[in-house]
Amino acid sequence: MCGIVGYIGQREAWQIIVKGLKRLEYRGYDSAGVALVDQQHINHYKKTGKVSDLEAAAAGANLQGRTGIGHTRWATHGEPSDRNAHPHLSEDGRLAIVHNGIIENYGPLKEELSSRGHVFQSDTDTEVLIHLIADILAEEKTDLLEAVRIALTQVIGAYAILVTDREHPEQLIAARKGSPMVIGVGNGEYFIASDASPIIEYTRNVIYLKDREIAFINGGELLIKTIDNEVQTPYIQKLEMQLEMLEKAGYDHFMLKEIHEQPRSIRDCMRGRIYPQEGKVQLGGIKEYADKLRNAERIIIVACGTSWHAGLVGEYLIEEFARIPVGVEYASEFRYRNPIITERDIVIAISQSGETADTMAAIELAKERGATILGICNVVGSSIPRLTHGGVYTHAGPEIGVASTKAFTAQVTVLTLIAMYAAQLRGTLAQSKLVELLTSLEDIPTLVEKTLACDQATQYIAAEIKDATNAIFLGRGVGFPVALEGALKLKEISYIHAEGYPAAEMKHGPIALIDEEMPVVVIATQNSSYEKVISNIQEVKARKGRVIAIVTEGDTAVRALADYVIEIPDADEAFLPLLATIPLQLLSYHTALLRGCNVDQPRNLAKSVTVE
Ligand code: M6R
Repeated sequence: MCGIVGYIGQREAWQIIVKGLKRLEYRGYDSAGVALVDQQHINHYKKTGKVSDLEAAAAGANLQGRTGIGHTRWATHGEPSDRNAHPHLSEDGRLAIVHNGIIENYGPLKEELSSRGHVFQSDTDTEVLIHLIADILAEEKTDLLEAVRIALTQVIGAYAILVTDREHPEQLIAARKGSPMVIGVGNGEYFIASDASPIIEYTRNVIYLKDREIAFINGGELLIKTIDNEVQTPYIQKLEMQLEMLEKAGYDHFMLKEIHEQPRSIRDCMRGRIYPQEGKVQLGGIKEYADKLRNAERIIIVACGTSWHAGLVGEYLIEEFARIPVGVEYASEFRYRNPIITERDIVIAISQSGETADTMAAIELAKERGATILGICNVVGSSIPRLTHGGVYTHAGPEIGVASTKAFTAQVTVLTLIAMYAAQLRGTLAQSKLVELLTSLEDIPTLVEKTLACDQATQYIAAEIKDATNAIFLGRGVGFPVALEGALKLKEISYIHAEGYPAAEMKHGPIALIDEEMPVVVIATQNSSYEKVISNIQEVKARKGRVIAIVTEGDTAVRALADYVIEIPDADEAFLPLLATIPLQLLSYHTALLRGCNVDQPRNLAKSVTVE
């Protein structure tokens, strides 16, 4: 939530910052701003709307400065407006700050500062922090680094901040706690950002700042210390990401590109991890916890949104293959319950971004209570992999569309591998069955490729449903989480209200909604619940609902009942989510396009939810 970019070096900062902010817009896009330090002045520009609106608003202004900070916002405290957009300045205009996160105790801090005469221009928590820093700077007669450090010891909450000082254009300060921050190390220049995407084209050498660390760049030198004043040795890593991964590669939208990348991303996710002929799964990142997995009494999966849906698929697969009881929890609820967790529990945290605040809090809670925590994350170097004991990266590559697509299928792939790995450890599946399953799994990327051929059919159906105000998605077994995911995709990008239900639950309430206007999307592939789902479709048709069915290639029975069918290739039931999700992603995409929605940046959302 919120993206920040900073630059200090010999180049003009504006272009670097604006380009970087555009790459980070997935993190928030309700307003943007930049502050540039030029000849002992801070010029700052802020605008409600996208980074391109800021660019237009600043055209013709003085955009010079070799030190600068920028921000693209997802509002938490204070409505989206020019006034509340970052950067925020100290009262005397000497300091500027950009901030990602929430200062939870901003209320008492603001009261205290107001009582001492501070006047605030915005409704944000961030402005309180820059006033506090300025106050300490004046009162304590110290330098900026020390003032920032002291201020941060008084702050409760999460932050990634950048601070500049017009009296010291050669200095830039960055600090983080609970929100990500990467420092790109160039030749006498530094690029700082919420993730590596704004940095990659300038340098591959990066430092992932750790929680409670402050980076002080001064005249080309970098010093890192903790908030407790302990100097740290910077650990420089090489970025593995490719620049092309951050571009649309000829597609109209990132979402469409990411949908089409799924054969590749699923293949990358399995690479080096499956040995079909031997019936063996190898997961290096959790190998150390093999005994724990073998003896686990229970697995608890914690996640949010799409990742939670992947967790539900994991529940089916782990229980089916490894016979370990699984509970799937919304991280946001789990963290505020008093859950019963023992040392024999394994908690699997799933997160594309690796930064979701609720998921991180759930991990901390389970860790305190002695559970073993395993992570399934996509973003390498993000916070969750650092919080967990072990884990498996999904290797889906950067996902930029706010609606999660390839990350979901990669998470499901990893969960499938974990289920088989646990089965292998516990001896709950015969070796021959493992060989059979892994042989089919290896084929899934090719089947996903075939499934993508339904693009035209989904376009056609999208035109038929685009004016609907509601939609229902139904599925049974592993088809149920697919239905939930289909509904979430449709509502988040097309703004059509959509609900996912287990097909048999429909008659316990939602059936009352069905009329000739209501699209009902049913996962009706040929698997163990096929006959039951056919009955559910009949119930919908009897009430004149419009049925869109996802069916197995060559199906005739459902075709005879449904208004529209989309065929997917036949595969083992366990792998159904990897195929059946694809047409639902495409259906949402085309429906949203026809409704004129911003597919990659739907309203009110952000890709990485770093606030509760
Ligand atoms: O990064 P995470 O996987 O932890 O994010 C969780 C949710 O915010 C995310 O899946 C969200 O629901 C997606 N935008 C849905 O497409």
